[in-house]
Amino acid sequence: MSHGFETRAIHAGQEPDPRTGAVIPPIYQTSTYAQDAVGQPRLGYEYSRSANPTRDALQECLAALERGARGLAFASGMAAEDTLLRTVCAPGDHLVIPDDAYGGTYRLVAKVLQRWGLDWTTAPVSDLDAVRAAMTPRTKVVWVETPTNPLLGIADLGALAGLAHDHGALLAVDNTFASPYLQQPIVHGADVVVHSTTKYLGGHSDVVGGALVVRDAGLGDELAFHQNAMGAVCGPFDAWLTLRGIKTLGVRMDRHCDNAEQVVDYLLHHPAVTDVRYPGLAEHPGHKVAAGQMRRYGGMVSFRVAGGEPAAVDVCDRAELFVLAESLGGVESLIEHPGRMTHASAAGSPLEVPADLVRLSVGIETVDDLIADLGQALETEDRSGLDRRQR
Ligand SMILES: Cc1ncc(COP(=O)(O)O)c(C=O)c1O
Repeated sequence: MSHGFETRAIHAGQEPDPRTGAVIPPIYQTSTYAQDAVGQPRLGYEYSRSANPTRDALQECLAALERGARGLAFASGMAAEDTLLRTVCAPGDHLVIPDDAYGGTYRLVAKVLQRWGLDWTTAPVSDLDAVRAAMTPRTKVVWVETPTNPLLGIADLGALAGLAHDHGALLAVDNTFASPYLQQPIVHGADVVVHSTTKYLGGHSDVVGGALVVRDAGLGDELAFHQNAMGAVCGPFDAWLTLRGIKTLGVRMDRHCDNAEQVVDYLLHHPAVTDVRYPGLAEHPGHKVAAGQMRRYGGMVSFRVAGGEPAAVDVCDRAELFVLAESLGGVESLIEHPGRMTHASAAGSPLEVPADLVRLSVGIETVDDLIADLGQALETEDRSGLDRRQR
């Protein structure tokens, strides 16, 4: 019988060490392994780029969390993305990518893989007809994020899987924003799940890492070959930190969601805020789809402010408890201006983000403190014409 999510998070791939009984998988901080005889490595371990027991524990756990056949851990989310795309595509192939996505994903496709010969088209992931129209006979991958970074758009995973498969393409889903606790794309038909484990999986802003989890064991073997051949592997200490973070993913995500819901409610009623993006809102255009594929709606919140870019930048600069920083998914709250920070590489492209947008990664601190901080940061941003004393 398959265990529940939290049980898998704590135990999958993490049996007590058979030699010592250590309850926590040891950090096998070694590059190589003594062999019993020429051509006889012990338990198959030869060299840590090819395999390492701490990384294996993480990989097994990731596969169990995402309900996949195999998990693979990389040095970063970008390393995972690059390995995936150069494994399943060849020069001359085509990708459909979201018109709202992490700027680094866009940069990898448009500035690195395009030079390698990969062609691509952007499409809004919430619009099935637009995705269908973007596909060509050479499309090998439909790449989606849901929720998207930073506008929190929603893609219908089941419908997109059907569309991709009808065209002989794979559906790859960057599940970084949701985490496997809130959404498991393989259950909805996706072929590959991509993670920046730097974010919610690691959960403590102390490690950079990435992962791929696949539905099909054959594709898993091909990716494992490329993981070793290309070499962007997750190191043992990083794998251990990520595993440690994963143990509390469920409880952290529930608190992220609780806090985000209260922050959203506060922002909705603030006169300096013109638009709040959160898939948990009934009026969010993707809410129904999100409700069908997500357990809850996550800790990421984006909002636009009256007063345009200077006001958005000002809010980010004035926040105190919300740390002004890139990244997301840690226990501490972060604030950023996507246009000038995480998505600066998408400026002038179809993925350019609104200049008046602020993105929050709502952490698990005391929520009243978070709301008070946003209140003081927005204080001077009531540029809607209302005098502060009249509010
Ligand atoms: C949605 C998403 N995917 C992928 C990445 C890339 O991951 P990494 O920074 O671990 O390389 C990021 C990083 O911010 C991200 O937000």
